[in-house]
Amino acid sequence: MLQSLSGKKVVVIGASSGIGLAVAHKTAELGASVVMSSRSPDKLHRAVESVLGQVEVLGQVEAIVADILNEESMNALFERVGNFDHLVVTAVADENLLRSPLAEMSTELAQRGMEKFWGTFFAARAAAKTLAQNGSITLTSSVSIFKPAKTGGVSVMSAASAAVAVFGRSLAAELAPIRVNVIAPGVVDTGVWSNTAESQRSDLAKWAEESLPVQHLGQAEELAQAVLSLMTNTYITGIILPVDGGLTVL
Ligand SMILES: NC(=O)c1ccc[n+]([C@@H]2O[C@H](COP(=O)([O-])OP(=O)(O)OC[C@H]3O[C@@H](n4cnc5c(N)ncnc54)[C@H](OP(=O)(O)O)[C@@H]3O)[C@@H](O)[C@H]2O)c1
Repeated sequence: MLQSLSGKKVVVIGASSGIGLAVAHKTAELGASVVMSSRSPDKLHRAVESVLGQVEVLGQVEAIVADILNEESMNALFERVGNFDHLVVTAVADENLLRSPLAEMSTELAQRGMEKFWGTFFAARAAAKTLAQNGSITLTSSVSIFKPAKTGGVSVMSAASAAVAVFGRSLAAELAPIRVNVIAPGVVDTGVWSNTAESQRSDLAKWAEESLPVQHLGQAEELAQAVLSLMTNTYITGIILPVDGGLTVL
């Protein structure tokens, strides 16, 4: 059975860019009332304008600035939201700046590398108090948990994504009947890559065209479509879904 999003309240944390923004666009189109949240006020308000500027927005759209890495900020966000139906967490900060080969990785950097897990924990703990029993949580991990990379210094980032994935599966058991699922994106053309050089980004696009089974880099909308399926399919819970253009079969 597919649950309609019409009249449902969806909270997206990380909604000002990339996958979260694409989820906000799609859920607003489908008639949900969407709370878009992220850390930077100007960026968030521009994102809300872009959703409201869509040809057809059936639901309401609200912006709430909050920091996923601050537990009080997460508690305040969900106190303000009140009862709601679906949570989507895509927020991540400066991920590509946290890369380092093991031998050179400082303890400080490694601890920052685990922020993605702590942010997810703060959000899920605060959200569970007012989330509908027939609702859902969708968390974001990474395909790197299935396909370790020899280079790139992503060992700790991958560990954080693995922690998010196992946390999500455990919550599917603990919070049932609330459904909890996890997407594991491959290489997606979003803000995550904004700190990398233009030449590196075009190398990535070329690699995708030549090597990936689907012959292109992931687009935020493709990931959002997968999130929508997990949110609305009432028979799916406890899964980690790779949405990776076939990266894991290479
Ligand atoms: N893109 C990829 O290739 C890829 C691959 C594997 C996994 N992933 C995962 O996919 C998820 C989404 O990434 P994306 O590609 O959509 O990234 P993105 O375009 O960089 O979006 C990240 C979002 O997180 C928000 N954010 C950052 N720090 C925050 C904080 N402290 N509190 C609240 N919001 C915060 C950002 O907003 P502000 O800047 O306004 O704070 C932005 O809205 C992440 O979990 C990432 O690890 C992505």
